[in-house]
Parts: sequence; C-alpha cells; structure tokens
Amino acid sequence: MNDGSAEARGPANIALIKYMGKRDPGRNIPCNPSLSYTLPHLFSTVVVSDASPGPDRWEYLPGAGNAALGLTREGEDRFLGHVRRLCDLWGHPASVLVRSANNFPADAGMASSASSFCAATRAVAAFLGRDETPAQLALLSRTGSGSSCRSFFGPWCVWDDDRIGALVFPVGPLLHLVVIVDGGRKSVRSSDAHARVGTSARFAGRADRARRRLSDLVRALAGSDWRSAYEISAAEFVDMHELFGTSDPPFHYRGAESDRIVAECDAFWARHGDGPVVTMDAGPNVHLLFRQDQRAVLCEMRERYARSHRVLSSEAETA
Ligand code: DP6
Repeated sequence: MNDGSAEARGPANIALIKYMGKRDPGRNIPCNPSLSYTLPHLFSTVVVSDASPGPDRWEYLPGAGNAALGLTREGEDRFLGHVRRLCDLWGHPASVLVRSANNFPADAGMASSASSFCAATRAVAAFLGRDETPAQLALLSRTGSGSSCRSFFGPWCVWDDDRIGALVFPVGPLLHLVVIVDGGRKSVRSSDAHARVGTSARFAGRADRARRRLSDLVRALAGSDWRSAYEISAAEFVDMHELFGTSDPPFHYRGAESDRIVAECDAFWARHGDGPVVTMDAGPNVHLLFRQDQRAVLCEMRERYARSHRVLSSEAETA
C-alpha cells in the first residue's frame, strides 16, 4: 500500500527511426520498430496521491523549474484514463489526485506524451508499492502512449512490438538542440497521424523501409559512422513526412521555415564533412543531435537560431 502520495519523473525521447502507424490501435502496437535517443534534460514530473471520493482529478503541479501547463479536456481524460487503468489493474479502486508538470514550456511544441505517460506509469507503480521491472512498466505505459515505452530506457531505446530495451553505442552521451518553428497546438495530433498514414499509397512497404533503416542505423552507430547516421535519419524523417503529404486527405507539418533549417544543416555538412544528426517529429520543429566533440558547433547554431526562434537545448547558455 502507499503512504498517501508518490512522485516520479519521466524523460522525453526523440526517435530517429519513427513509430508511425499502428497495427493494433487499442494497444498501441506499432507497424514497425523504432529507435530513439532519450532526452534526460526534458522531463515530466507526476505526483499521485489519495483523493476524496469522487472522480479522479488532474491538477497542474507547481514547483521549481516547472512550466505552466494546461491540458485540454481530451488530454486530461486520456491521461487520467491511463492512471485509472493502472489503478484498477493493481487493485486500487479509490480515487486519486494526479498532479503533473513538464520542465519545458507547454507552448514549445515539444511532444510531452512520452515523458508524461512514462512518469505517470512510474508514479502509480510507486504509489501502490509495485515491483514491476522497467520492461513491464514500459509495456503498460505503451498502452497510454506508444512512444512513452521508449522513455524507460537509455541512452538509446529500441522498440519492436513487445520488445523494448536499451542500446549503448560508442558515440557516448549526445547533445541536443531543438529549434522551435511553431509551438502552437498541432492541427493533426500524432495519434490521428498514425491512423491517417494508412491511407497513403506509400504506406505499402513503409514497415520494410523502417526495418531496413533501423538495422542500417544500428550498424552505423555501432561503427561510429556519424555521417551514415545523419543520412539514414534524414531519409527516415523525410519518408514519414512524405507519408503525411500523400495521405487522404493530406496533411503537412513541414513548412518553408523547417525546410530552411534542414537545408542549412545539410549545407553545414557539405562544407565541413561533419554536422548534426537532424530529425523532425510529427511537427514543424527541427531536432539536432551532436557528439560531445561538436559542442562548439551546437553553441554556434544555438546562438544563431536563438536570434529568430525559441530553442531548447541540453546545454546551458554559458556552455
Ligand atoms: C511522430 O506516441 O505520440 O513522434 O501512441 O498515439 O500516443 P500514441 O502516439 P505517439 O506517437 C509518436 C509519433 C512520432 C514518432 C516517434 O516518436 O517514434
């Protein structure tokens, strides 16, 4: 049992091989395997506590470093629904109060479902004194939001059906920078994107393409082949955005501004024979990953983009 309240954190993650399309939408079983890098500097905190009888409730969790957060009705229902499923599964019919916050701004356009569902799953488990392994918790978290299952492992995580596990590559801890092109709410949420891409003629063969890129990327990272990692990651996010653009009806997140930033990174690679690994999720923001020895490049790019955009980075301003 619990002593009235439990707190847990969950990190965000950025996929280089994307989870896009569900074989079983009820359980968030993906059509293809995915590979992500865990982002410990972007995290959610969730506190679960006893509540007076009545419906379960969600509240914003104020605290140092927490950014103001408001959930839509739908977002709140989905989040509380996940917590209730876990409470029922683990024999806790009594009402709970769920408080949560992210350490990154809600209007930064950063997906928070991975970090928040990971943190919620951990918090409910701690609240009820459960001793499930991280792999078991990850599987339960997947039902709430698919990509959250990858947040249980790092520095890298590979997710294929029911298999979720950590990978380590010689490149070591990476540095992260995201250029926020648009922080507003997305017109098509990633949960809907998963359903829509099935209407694209390009969806046939998508699982094979992702699987092939996954093995190529694992080989590249295992062999410290950073250029191949950049090329494979680029092909992968372009493939996903082409699925969006060829769906019926089509939808788009990539605009001229995202394209300009991606093109500038490509030009940097062409000039220097080196550069960041670039990727985009189901949104217009551009994520860049750097090796430790590329810190100066990150700082230079962060300074440049901070003049025109909001940026979030794993590296402090003074680095
Ligand atoms: C484009 O995990 O947000 O970020 O399972 O419906 O919650 P649900 O979807 P979600 O999908 C994330 C899709 C993506 C790619 C990725 O993270 O792999």
